[in-house]
Amino acid sequence: VSTSDVRHLMTIADLTPKELTFLIDRSAAIKAATKAGEIPEATALKGKTVAVMFSKRSTRTRISTEGAVTHFGGHAMFLGKDDIQLGVNESLYDTSRVISSMVSCIVARVNGHSDVANLAKDSSVPVINALSDAFHPLQALADILTIKESFPDRPLNTLKLAWVGDANNVLHDLMFACAKVGIKVSIATPKEFPVSEDMLEIARAAADEHEGCVIETTHVPEEAVKGADIIVTDTWISMGQESEKLTKLKQFAGYQVTNELAERGGANADWKFMHCLPRHQEEVSDEVFYSPRSVVFEEAENRLWTMIAAMETFVIKKGKF
Ligand code: CP
Ligand code: NVA
Repeated sequence: VSTSDVRHLMTIADLTPKELTFLIDRSAAIKAATKAGEIPEATALKGKTVAVMFSKRSTRTRISTEGAVTHFGGHAMFLGKDDIQLGVNESLYDTSRVISSMVSCIVARVNGHSDVANLAKDSSVPVINALSDAFHPLQALADILTIKESFPDRPLNTLKLAWVGDANNVLHDLMFACAKVGIKVSIATPKEFPVSEDMLEIARAAADEHEGCVIETTHVPEEAVKGADIIVTDTWISMGQESEKLTKLKQFAGYQVTNELAERGGANADWKFMHCLPRHQEEVSDEVFYSPRSVVFEEAENRLWTMIAAMETFVIKKGKF
């Protein structure tokens, strides 16, 4: 198999709407079966190793990845940034060739997106992006599953999601995913942080396939939350941006998700709150975060079920949906 035949998961933009829906449905089925005690015999990855190469911190992504490998009876080998030669003593190309010759999959969390893209280019096994500065596909899978579960009586194409926060990696894949399943998206970011036109173009091309599905942007949080069923935010200071913290905190004044904001803007009465976590108080009040509207802990748990489905599809079934 040439490396170009290997199917990787770099961003939700890599998936067709059908493939995305398949992964969400498969996640829900695995979740239901496991909770019902129908634990499959864990053999598909028995005797196999998955390299978990993370150059940034992680709670959910690391645990869900290791849990997914365990689900299939394999071994997840965690390699932190100080563990391997990458970046210090060895090139990305050499690292990719070497690691992929010994494992069944590489799950990588990197700084610049080109790092994970280059790893994938030269890898003979699937590479799954566990977060880069541009994308976080695994988070978006869990988010769509959580939205489905939160609105069991509403077809996805009747829902509206509002993003109030930074124009970041999590937003990019979330808006692609929403557009692919027909969820309308309205995004409020401070004027200093507009959503990238290139990313909007990808999202809007997918949204065009669904009647009435639009991806809107504004710099007024109240406008974004109007008629929203789901309000989502993320940290204002992503990993690697720590030096910008003081400036960014000022630029995001008025962006905290609160009940007052939702009410002023006219969100739907039964709106739900989502956040990929980790969370800081500046971006969402305790009152919202710990309220019955908040589905953040269900969303976090869904990282496991969606990672199991991703591992099954990309690694065990070698990208055959
Ligand atoms: N949401 C998320 O990716 O969390 P971690 O950084 O803890 O993995
Ligand atoms: N946008 C955040 C997400 C963390 C899961 C970051 O990149 O740090």
